[in-house]
Amino acid sequence: MKIFFLGIFSIIPENMSKINAVITGIGSYTPQYISTNEEISTFVDTSDEWITKRIGIKERRILKPEEGKGVSYLAEKAIEDLRNSKDFDPLEIEAIIFATSTPDYILPNTASLIAYRMGMKNAFGFDLGAACSGSIFALDVGQAYITSGKYKKIMLIAGDVLSTVTDFKDRNTCPIFSDSCSAAIIEATTEDFGIMDSILHSDGNSLEFLHMYGGGSVNPASHESVDQRLHYIHQDGKVVFKRAITEMGNTCAELMKRNHLTTNDIAWVVPHQANIRIINAVADHLEIPINKVTINIEKYGNSSAGTIPLCLREWESQFRKGDKIILTAFGAGFTWGAIYMKWGYDPA
Ligand code: UT7
Repeated sequence: MKIFFLGIFSIIPENMSKINAVITGIGSYTPQYISTNEEISTFVDTSDEWITKRIGIKERRILKPEEGKGVSYLAEKAIEDLRNSKDFDPLEIEAIIFATSTPDYILPNTASLIAYRMGMKNAFGFDLGAACSGSIFALDVGQAYITSGKYKKIMLIAGDVLSTVTDFKDRNTCPIFSDSCSAAIIEATTEDFGIMDSILHSDGNSLEFLHMYGGGSVNPASHESVDQRLHYIHQDGKVVFKRAITEMGNTCAELMKRNHLTTNDIAWVVPHQANIRIINAVADHLEIPINKVTINIEKYGNSSAGTIPLCLREWESQFRKGDKIILTAFGAGFTWGAIYMKWGYDPA
């Protein structure tokens, strides 16, 4: 037995350390316009009391055309915020992965526009579509690029301008959705920090429950598609609600189990912000005290791919190097998953 193990270890060169991918800085931006529940109540038959109790949102940020346009505008502002705390040379960025369901245009991809405008001339870029799970899917792809040894420094951007695809005559959706964007840098390290493990899933048999049918190649924009309100997100809230709790809860539990993590080991759970009752149910399932769960849905609503990095940015000053953090999301697709990471730096 001893000889067998010696045999295996002897083929690994002494100077070869495992490469991890770690977040080394994060910046965020939310638009200036604050839309309150009172304002939403002037569009549809609802109330501040109902939205607060059933969803947990008091207000959300909406990008008004007079402030700026498109998700790239929010991304540029997020990168400016990132620069306040993280000094980096744009020319060192090798790739940009932009998780969004509301790109500036169908083509070209928004990542390329950002690369050009922000001086990241050596980076290639692409957009990644995984709806509300986009930020964790992008983190997983970026981690794989880095741990492969091919790239050392990647920018991840995640955000949406859901107000552009929200039907403000539909009370099932308009109280929920909002706009935000964040940008993070992930880098190679041989230290024992960064993304440790992930579990991602999708189930394409759920189209009818959460979708936007218009604007793609099945229903390209036409008078009819506009008349039929196909360019807005539609959902069966109850179905989404139940699946979100089940899948996020089970995936986090599986991830914790296979990494031998108890609830005491976890410093923070960072869930997608879709409904406070979903967040509470996931925390209950994991038996994680709610003061270890990042919650800002009351201020910002559900900005799809934007919610998790917005929480990371808001809690950044409370994170400590080595904190064990679980990120978890659920969204259209359905897509869902969880990531386990060890935070890589102390507050400035
Ligand atoms: O980010 C990923 C995608 N989205 C989600 O994760 C969202 C998941 N779903 C949800 O958050 C919730 O299902 C909603 C917030 C969408 C709806 O909450 P609910 O507690 O599931 O409401 P419901 O659809 O079961 O409706 C309960 C009642 C109904 O009235 P009746 O039939 O009991 O008389 C609805 O008509 O509440 C009514 N209702 C509303 N009332 C006031 C539904 N929406 C509203 C509203 N204001 N905005």
